[in-house]
Amino acid sequence: MCLLKFINEESANIAEIYSIFTHRGGSGKTSLVTNLASILAHKYKKKILIIDADPKGNISMAFDKIPENFEDTIYDVMVRGIDPKEVIVSLHQNIDLIPSNGDMDFLEFDIFPRLKVYSRPYHLLKDNMRSIKNKYDYVFIDTPSSSILTIANCLIYSDKVIIPFVPDIFDVAGFSQVTKTIKEIQNTHNPKLKISGILAMKVEKATNIHKEILKEAQIFFSQSNIQLYETRIPKTILFAKSVSYNKSPAILTSKAKNKLVNSYDNLANEFLLKDKITRKKFDYKTDILELYKKKEENKQKNKVENTHKRMTFLIRKELKKRLDIISKNKHGFKTFILNQAIEEILDKTERNDD
Ligand SMILES: Nc1ncnc2c1ncn2[C@@H]1O[C@H](COP(=O)(O)OP(=O)(O)O)[C@@H](O)[C@H]1O
Ligand SMILES: [Mg+2]
Repeated sequence: MCLLKFINEESANIAEIYSIFTHRGGSGKTSLVTNLASILAHKYKKKILIIDADPKGNISMAFDKIPENFEDTIYDVMVRGIDPKEVIVSLHQNIDLIPSNGDMDFLEFDIFPRLKVYSRPYHLLKDNMRSIKNKYDYVFIDTPSSSILTIANCLIYSDKVIIPFVPDIFDVAGFSQVTKTIKEIQNTHNPKLKISGILAMKVEKATNIHKEILKEAQIFFSQSNIQLYETRIPKTILFAKSVSYNKSPAILTSKAKNKLVNSYDNLANEFLLKDKITRKKFDYKTDILELYKKKEENKQKNKVENTHKRMTFLIRKELKKRLDIISKNKHGFKTFILNQAIEEILDKTERNDD
């Protein structure tokens, strides 16, 4: 009985491990990791571990830390077998990091000539992470764009992959290489590895080429049985601004709702839903009913909001018309009072609208 309880408690808390991976640099991998981790930790109170596997150490920089100041990093976990608990640093409430820095540039040089010592070179991460998984809800790995040894280690340790995709011609061309790498890992070392989905990044809604590429991509991906996330992350300067000026990912610094916060809110919802569906412990009957209920509630809420907006618009239009008539109607105290009242209502409806 006791053992059963223990097993249940342990398995309830085993993190799902996601690699954010594509071969192309600058496609938003690091921004995706930092912002998705931030919204899941901040809004949904999930416990997150980020593993930075990129020698550039950009995750630390996004949280205002200098990568070269870390004495021990992911390199020491993989090469020296240091306990990951000794390397972990806290970035924010509910977000921990295993940092990376330039040491990772030497991984291949240090491992490949010593295969007698490192007999499982592609399992260095998996073998050395030990029991970290049951301390977190999610582990996100920020992968480097090159270094096949590091990429293989990340994908072998992962349950799922999210592939950031900028809808331009370079990403389309490079995409087959990405799926080839994933298939290779699935065939040789990690048959359970799943593609969670492709996520369109830096999308310019008004640009025709983006629209066309995304439409084509959707068809292509679905033929290959790969899902494209419905959420699209828009191109906005807020990402870079936030890291440069506020020393923190945009999600943690944006106070107001804007298109960036909205897109990550949608992404977090979609991510959690997808994650739940693809986890073994998903209770289809109750969870699907719950989701359906939520969708209906949202629909109803949108309907009410739209009606309210429409009514406000009509009232304002009507009031403006009357105001015009009154102002043409020369002076008089009554006109003045009426005028003021209408101005006040207009002012109020405008504020309600914002
Ligand atoms: N949605 C976005 N809109 C505009 N710029 C973005 C967006 N996402 C990321 N960027 C910027 O693009 C650059 C590369 O992003 P980054 O996350 O570092 O990519 P990667 O990790 O794949 O190299 C950074 O300067 C970042 O601020
Ligand atoms: Mg990066």
